[in-house]
Amino acid sequence: MYDRYGGPDVLRVEQIPTPAPGAGQVLIEVAATSLNLSDWEGLTGRPGYARLGGLRAPRRRVLGSDIAGRVAAVGSGVTRLRVGDEVYGDNLGLLGGFAEYAVAPVAALAPKPAGLSFVEASTLPQAGAIAVQGTARVRRGQRVLINGAGGGSGSFAIQLAKRAGAHVTGVDNGGKLDFMRGLGADEVVDYTTSDFTRLEPFDLILDLVAHRSVFAYRRALARGGRYLCVGGTVRSLLRIVTVGAALGLVSGRRLGVLIAREGPVFFEPVAERCAAGDLRITVDRTYPLQETARALGYLGEGRALGKVVVTV
Ligand SMILES: NC(=O)c1ccc[n+]([C@@H]2O[C@H](COP(=O)([O-])OP(=O)(O)OC[C@H]3O[C@@H](n4cnc5c(N)ncnc54)[C@H](OP(=O)(O)O)[C@@H]3O)[C@@H](O)[C@H]2O)c1
Repeated sequence: MYDRYGGPDVLRVEQIPTPAPGAGQVLIEVAATSLNLSDWEGLTGRPGYARLGGLRAPRRRVLGSDIAGRVAAVGSGVTRLRVGDEVYGDNLGLLGGFAEYAVAPVAALAPKPAGLSFVEASTLPQAGAIAVQGTARVRRGQRVLINGAGGGSGSFAIQLAKRAGAHVTGVDNGGKLDFMRGLGADEVVDYTTSDFTRLEPFDLILDLVAHRSVFAYRRALARGGRYLCVGGTVRSLLRIVTVGAALGLVSGRRLGVLIAREGPVFFEPVAERCAAGDLRITVDRTYPLQETARALGYLGEGRALGKVVVTV
């Protein structure tokens, strides 16, 4: 739990009443909750959009959105799920996954595939949904660059773009180059030593951590190419939707922000492919619930390869 934005040291373990599911919600006995950059952003309150739910102090005091576990109770009007069902989903609206019990709306949840463990299933809802939507238009032979490709969403996006027949360039820090190659990236770039916007032009740039100028992004796009920003600094996002959109119009390229939609319809296809062995899930580390602060610290240090998961 936490009451103010800050580093992992503002988190503490506390005993609180078990939440009760409302109409259309279920109570989940949590088995595993994976970490996303959005948890780190919610913890630190940075970038600024992470404070949309609470400007001065966090409104939700328990973080954790990518939950996998068993239904322990159902609220009124719930017919699709029953007590004991194994489920997983992205609870970005209510959070609360770094706990023994969490409440989530039924609409956010899907039945866990039998072929995936709770830990594996918890890695998919947010990162899988972002990767699916970010690579939805990739076509055979296209040159695709993924910035932040060594993280949770990026590790799925590399694989999806490769399966679609693209030539994939992955950008991340030097410690993640082999990891990205192992996932299928044709080229890898260390962002600490190279500027990808000065490389060959790309047909699609999927940017998970935008912080450069729109002019640099435009330079890195081939004619007809598309730049999609998923996350980054508020300044970058604002410039992309204003200057970037206009610049794209006059230069025959498109620059925009991907507002990733949540829900089973987006992550279930990834889960099916993971269960079938077509896509790989990489869990770097798991931490017990009591060590959630350490887990977030590890993610925040930027050393995680793929996903980090808290288990209960
Ligand atoms: N648009 C939407 O609807 C939506 C919804 C949910 C989440 N998001 C956003 O999605 C983004 C991705 O989340 P995620 O969970 O996949 O993140 P993640 O697992 O932390 O991965 C991000 C990766 O980017 C790398 N990175 C950091 N700075 C970089 C730079 N300057 N250049 C290139 N790579 C850099 C990180 O490596 P190091 O830090 O180790 O160097 C890390 O490997 C986040 O920004 C989040 O806010 C967007």
